Amino acid sequence: MKRPTAAEIATRKGAAFPVITAYDAPFSRCAEEAGIDVILVGDSLGMVVLGFDSTVHVELGDMIRHGAAVARGTQRAHIMVDLPFGTYEASDELAIASSSELVKRGAATSVKLEGGASAAARICAIAGAGIPVCAHIGVLPQTASLGSGFRLKRERDRLLADADAVAAAGAFAVVLEMVEDSIAAEITARIPIPTIGIGSGPGCDGQVLVLHDVLGLYPDAPPFAKRYAELGAATTNALRAYAGDVRARAFPAERAKATREGNGYRS
Ligand code: KIV
Repeated sequence: MKRPTAAEIATRKGAAFPVITAYDAPFSRCAEEAGIDVILVGDSLGMVVLGFDSTVHVELGDMIRHGAAVARGTQRAHIMVDLPFGTYEASDELAIASSSELVKRGAATSVKLEGGASAAARICAIAGAGIPVCAHIGVLPQTASLGSGFRLKRERDRLLADADAVAAAGAFAVVLEMVEDSIAAEITARIPIPTIGIGSGPGCDGQVLVLHDVLGLYPDAPPFAKRYAELGAATTNALRAYAGDVRARAFPAERAKATREGNGYRS
């Protein structure tokens, strides 16, 4: 089975489809096995994996490295990769060069960038170069701490104008982050491309969450995220048990030695 194309995802308008972030081979493989065929390699990478306090420290090389790992871990998923802060805003040329690099290095089947009407020219340029683009409006994490803010977005006219602009510019889908529920539903009914909501209520087409929030691996998850597992606690417990076994000389055991000598190592 092939990876779904952006054009195929665009036909999911009206369908409720799941999107999840992932940043490496093992977790993206889990996502694919769970039947999720759109994976976002988000620049949330900066916080949930790399330990930064915001996304602005993420570089294009980080996204190439992690997008390519997701590509190696999957066979049937569309891989949407965030263009990080500073890699697309300055010019159409820069936006095309950054997007092409992600595609050439096998890291992305589409790119995502932040911004509404102000990003329309970049969306048009990247899409014009043949690279599918997903837009992202509402809360814009890359500039939120610089002034655009993390609060729920309720400026209806501005949000509708942003949604219209990114759809007209050629985006194949748009993420709505922290957009007031009724406005998100209005946008979803209004524009021809799928909306993918995060903290924007049930009226969007798709929904996206950050993997580490879903799995209980990130302590500062936003209130709208739902935890489906407690892998942080499970990991700590497993490592505590391992450390205890080593200290008690309960691991490795004689049986493990025999197995190693008989079977070799990982092949
Ligand atoms: O970087 C990311 O994970 C995102 C989601 C919050 C949509 O952009």
